Amino acid sequence: MRNIILVGFMGAGKSVVGKLLAKKLNIDFVESDEMIETREKMPIKDIFEKKGEPYFRKVEKEIVKEASLRKNSVISAGGGAIIDEDNFKNLKSSGIIICLKTSPETILKRIKDLKTRPLLNVPDPKKQIEELLEKRKPYYNKADFSIETDELNSEQVVKKIMDLL
Ligand code: S3P
Repeated sequence: MRNIILVGFMGAGKSVVGKLLAKKLNIDFVESDEMIETREKMPIKDIFEKKGEPYFRKVEKEIVKEASLRKNSVISAGGGAIIDEDNFKNLKSSGIIICLKTSPETILKRIKDLKTRPLLNVPDPKKQIEELLEKRKPYYNKADFSIETDELNSEQVVKKIMDLL
C-alpha cells in the first residue's frame, strides 16, 4: 500500500485524524514534527527560538525525505513542509497526499496553546493565520485530494479519507 500523507495548516487536525486513520487501517503513523523533536532533542518552539526557522526547515527537509521512504504508513507533515519543492516531490512520490482544509476561525479555536506554534505566537494570530493561509493556498492545492474539516469531527474526516482510498 502507498503511504497516506496528510498536509494542511496548523490546527487542521492532521495528528488526531492521522492517528485514528492509521489505527483503523492497522498501519504505522509518523509525524514529521515528532521526528524532528526526537532528532533535535527539543520541542519545535525551542528549535525556532534557539536555532531559528531556516535551521528548522533544513532539519524538516531531511526528515521529510526519511519519512517518504517509509512504506505502509500514515505520514503527517508539518503545516509548512509542503511549501518546499523537494519536500513536495518526496512526499508525492511516496503516496497519496490529502490536504485537510480549515478556516482561520476554526484554526484559532482548535489551537489552544499558541506558544507551541512559534509562527502563531504573535500579537495578532488571526491576521497571521489569514496571511499565511493565503500565501500557502497554491501549495496546499497541489494535494491529490482536499477535505474541508470545519464541520466535521475526526471520525467523519477519517471516513472521508477511507472512502477516497
Ligand atoms: C509549521 C507547522 C507546525 C510545525 C512548525 C511550523 C508551519 O506543524 O512544523 O511550527 O510552518 O505551518 P503542525 O502543522 O503539525 O502544527
